[in-house]
Amino acid sequence: MFQKLQTKWKVSGGRLLLILVTFATGGSLCGIAGRKILEWTGLEKGVLWVILYIVLITLIWPACVLLVSIPLGQFGFFKKYIRKLFFRMSGQKNNMVLGEKQQNLAIFASGAGSNAQKIIEHLSGHTSIKVALVVCNKAGAGVIAIAEKAGIPVLIIEKEQFFRGNHYVDELRAYNTDWIVLAGFLWKVPVGLIAAFAGRIINIHPALLPKYGGKGMYGKHVHEAVRSANETETGITIHFVDEYYDHGKIILQEKCTVTPEDDADSIAQKVHALEHQYFPKAVEDVILNSIIK
Ligand code: GAR
Repeated sequence: MFQKLQTKWKVSGGRLLLILVTFATGGSLCGIAGRKILEWTGLEKGVLWVILYIVLITLIWPACVLLVSIPLGQFGFFKKYIRKLFFRMSGQKNNMVLGEKQQNLAIFASGAGSNAQKIIEHLSGHTSIKVALVVCNKAGAGVIAIAEKAGIPVLIIEKEQFFRGNHYVDELRAYNTDWIVLAGFLWKVPVGLIAAFAGRIINIHPALLPKYGGKGMYGKHVHEAVRSANETETGITIHFVDEYYDHGKIILQEKCTVTPEDDADSIAQKVHALEHQYFPKAVEDVILNSIIK
């Protein structure tokens, strides 16, 4: 459990201890303060007392924890933690966090663009995240019309500059790109581009990685391989991109069944349905979690 918290909050063991002490001390302080306040009101212990006590400690808990966090040097962590909690509780995830910069997204796609479309729809009107650019390596690809219809600029890229030139880093910077989302983008991302957007490139793969990943494993080829292997399930993997094909840290996997009646086309349909359901929200969550941390 401690290991999990350390990974989640990206803190050292010592820092985790200080955070847990802050939680415990702040919580106790909050309990004591709540009881003292109720003593002053002269209210008898009963149902009303318990209700008021719960309301009180909910209200004063953030103040108590923040207070304790100062001498323990954890104010920065708790300021962000409480802010995040507030946004989660009030369902205002979609609201711009005060003082934070809008996050600009570049969607890279080579094909029909159904995932790009879902992401564009999901983020339309979002106050923290904007699809600022669609990048495509294939003139005439369906995704271009989707971007144009949504009023999103399109950058058509060429092999030479992508692999051996500046990897389009300058062009992406010109659009103030913060994040890259690969939504059916079939070229391998060069190391130079990964370095320029370290930890900020997200890919979707139409299978349960590490199965059916790697060079040549894209689109229908994946589903054909799943069919040939008589798999009983397949699914999607949303992951960060590193220098290896379909390899980076996994963000989310979702499964669907494969029946003996399925062929590559029907598997593709099931997988696409999963992609459309989970990908846009996963992208939003990753970006928001990086802002409100
Ligand atoms: C999606 O199924 C995506 O997972 C896959 O290409 C399809 C694009 O569909 N990506 C890969 O295979 C990457 N290795 P779309 O153009 O309709 O979004």
